[in-house]
Formats: sequence, C-alpha cells, structure tokens
Amino acid sequence: IPLRQYNTLGIDTLARYFAAFVSVNELGELIENNPNMGILPLILGGGSNILFKNNIDGLVLKNDIPGVNVVKEDADHVYVKAGAGENWHKFVQFCLQRNWAGVENLSLIPGCVGASPMQNIGAYGVEIKEVFEELEAFHLRDKQVQVFKAADCAFGYRESVFKGKYRNQYVILNVTYRLNKKPVFNTSYGAIEQELERMGVQELSIQAVSQAVINIRSSKLPDPAKIGNAGSFFKNPSVAAAVYEELKTQYPHIVGYPNIDGTIKLAAGWLIEQSGWKGYRRGDAGIHEKQALVLVNYGNATGQDIYDLSDDVMKSVHAKFGVELEREVNVV
Ligand code: FAD
Ligand code: EPU
Repeated sequence: IPLRQYNTLGIDTLARYFAAFVSVNELGELIENNPNMGILPLILGGGSNILFKNNIDGLVLKNDIPGVNVVKEDADHVYVKAGAGENWHKFVQFCLQRNWAGVENLSLIPGCVGASPMQNIGAYGVEIKEVFEELEAFHLRDKQVQVFKAADCAFGYRESVFKGKYRNQYVILNVTYRLNKKPVFNTSYGAIEQELERMGVQELSIQAVSQAVINIRSSKLPDPAKIGNAGSFFKNPSVAAAVYEELKTQYPHIVGYPNIDGTIKLAAGWLIEQSGWKGYRRGDAGIHEKQALVLVNYGNATGQDIYDLSDDVMKSVHAKFGVELEREVNVV
C-alpha cells in the first residue's frame, strides 16, 4: 500500500499491510488477525511528524477514532474527551467557538488528537500538558486499556513516555483536556505581542490570540498541502549556561532562552541558518527558505534523501558551534 498520502512529508513509501480503525474493538480485531505476528504494528495519525526512511514490512494502522464530548464541568473548567482520530485544529476551533480557553496558542498544528500527548505538542509558550487531564491507551501486547494521568506521561519538551520508554507499545484511544471557562492569556512569546499589535487588537480574546498564531505560522511555516514537510525537523537544543556565554562571545547574535533548570535553549533554526543551510536544495530535498528548522520535500525526495540531508545539517552545526542537534520527527 502506498503511504504517500498518509504523511505530510509526502514520502512515497510502501507498507505491506494497512488498515484503519474507528474503535478499540476494531483495533483489537486487527491485532488478533495481524498477519505479521510478533511485529508490532505502526500506529499512524495525520502523519505530520514522521519520516519514512524505508518501506514498512509490517502492518500500519491508522487511528480514526472519532468523537468530542463534554464529560465533566465545574465552576472554572470544562473537561472534554476527544477521540484520537479527531483533527487537532478542528478540536481547537470547537473550543474557540464555545469560548473554552487553553488551546488557542496551539492553533493550526497539523495532525490528530491522539498524537498530541505523544510529544507534548507545543507552540507560542504553551504545551499540551497544561490542559491535559488524562488519556486512555490500549497496550498492544496485554490488550488492556489503561488510564494515564499527567504524572504517568512524564511530559517534557517534545517528550513523553509514549515517545520514550513506551515507544510503539500503546495506542492512545482518546484524550481528555481540561479547558478554562475564564481565559488565562499567554502572550509571552514576543511574536504574538507584535502580531496582536499589528492586527490592532484592543481587547484580548482567545479568538484574537488564535488568529495571531495563525498569521505568524502562515507567514513562515510551509503548508504541507503545497510543500512536503513535518514542521520542525530538530528539537531546539539546550546547553549549559557557561557554554552559552562562551558561544555568545564569538556569536553575539546567537538566540537563546533560559530554561527553569538554568540551562539555555538555543534556537536551532538560527544555528542552521548561520551554518548556511537556509533555502538550500539538493534534488527534491531541501531546507525551507523562511524557516531553517523545517526540512522540505519538493516532490520526489525519498526518506533516505531527507535523512541524509538532516545528517549533513547535524554535522555542519556541530562542526561550527560544537552543538549536537537531535531529530524531533519520528524516524521509521
Ligand atoms: P503522526 O505523524 O501520525 O505520528 C507521530 C508519532 O506518534 C508516530 O511515532 C506515531 O506512531 C505516533 N502516534 C500517532 N498517533 C498515535 C496514537 N493514537 N497512539 C499512539 N501513538 C501514536 N508540533 C508541535 O509540537 N508544535 C508545532 O508548532 C508544530 N508545528 C508543525 C507545523 C507543520 C507545518 C507540521 C507539518 C508539523 C508540525 N508539528 C508541530 C508536528 C506535528 O504536527 C505534531 O507532532 C502532531 O501532534 C503530529 O500528529 P499526527 O497525528 O500527524 O502524528
Ligand atoms: N530563527 C532564525 N532562522 C530561522 C528560523 C528561526 O534565526 O531560519 C530564529 C528566529 O529569528 C527566532 C528563533 O529562531 O529568534 C525562534 O524561531 P521561531 O519563533 O520560528 O520558533 P522555533 O524555535 O524555530 C519552535 C517550535 C515550533 C513552534 C514555534 C513557536 C521546536 C523544535 N519548534 O520553533 O514547533 O511552532 O517554536 O512556538 O521547538 C514543530 O514542532 O514542528 C514546530 C513547528
């Protein structure tokens, strides 16, 4: 089965077997009948954070579990449970329409609800862990459904147990988010402040914040419908404060933000741009011209082409700055 339409990088890879499921029962049946007994299936959502480096010799299962329901409500919060197969941005719009706050900064992130806890999606000063209540996940070997609270997920920057120690072991079935009836605005990210001002917003609202985020994102991130990409290809690397100071003497314009533990998070996009890669193209693989952290497929790049290019970027950033980049996308 060709997977090109199932990954936003548009890699033309093949899966030996492919099926979609809309319920945990269907999932259970598919696992029982998995023709590749012993090899765990690959679970796919929107395919917007994945690089297929090779063909897949097993089963790919697309999670299409639907449903958005209010499960609880108190004076300050609404608890909304969403099926893993729901489109993330549609869910954000659903909340915006009802004036439920907390996810407006996460507008326009591609992909599905089920992958949102996977790397604790984040943008413009907010991460999913801040509105996360719990999730239900199916264990592929035990075939049991388990509940995970926030503390069980070990959320970090672009990390969770599902991306880490439990990788490929669980299928996230649904996620319950805790949304605020009274908004707590987060406009700490400089670009949002500027955009709100440019828009002439007088009174802050979650709708305005969402629109500001959408405007910023549309101005620099490539639309996967037009140019294949998976968003940021690398994580922003953190270094010790002393290393940052040292780098700053040599590169006074280096971009870094302090983490709570005292280390400094460097802007990988800046490091890559300064290494001369922005707008670079080799065959159909390239580095986006407006955002150096995004690798792009102009048409027929293979997964290996993209991977090789990412390797060269990592080597050159390391040679120039002594900083190790780590891939953010899931390489399969
Ligand atoms: P997929 O790519 O289908 O899967 C990602 C990983 O999760 C895979 O390893 C897969 O096996 C696993 N997985 C998926 N669904 C499940 C499930 N139900 N159960 C268990 N495992 C599962 N990310 C951010 O955090 N912030 C951003 O600002 C951001 N911007 C982006 C912009 C663009 C233009 C693009 C293309 C991507 C961007 N991303 C961003 C990355 C991506 O949108 C997110 O990581 C998103 O959550 C991926 O969702 P998906 O459904 O497409 O996951
Ligand atoms: N920068 C450059 N050159 C570039 C790109 C960026 O100098 O080519 C500089 C910018 O000028 C800015 C800084 O780097 O000073 C940060 O840039 P930006 O605001 O675009 O954000 P980012 O750090 O590159 C991160 C996330 C994005 C998220 C945005 C907004 C990671 C790996 N990426 O990007 O997430 O949308 O912040 O919060 O943390 C994703 O995960 O796929 C993704 C797009």
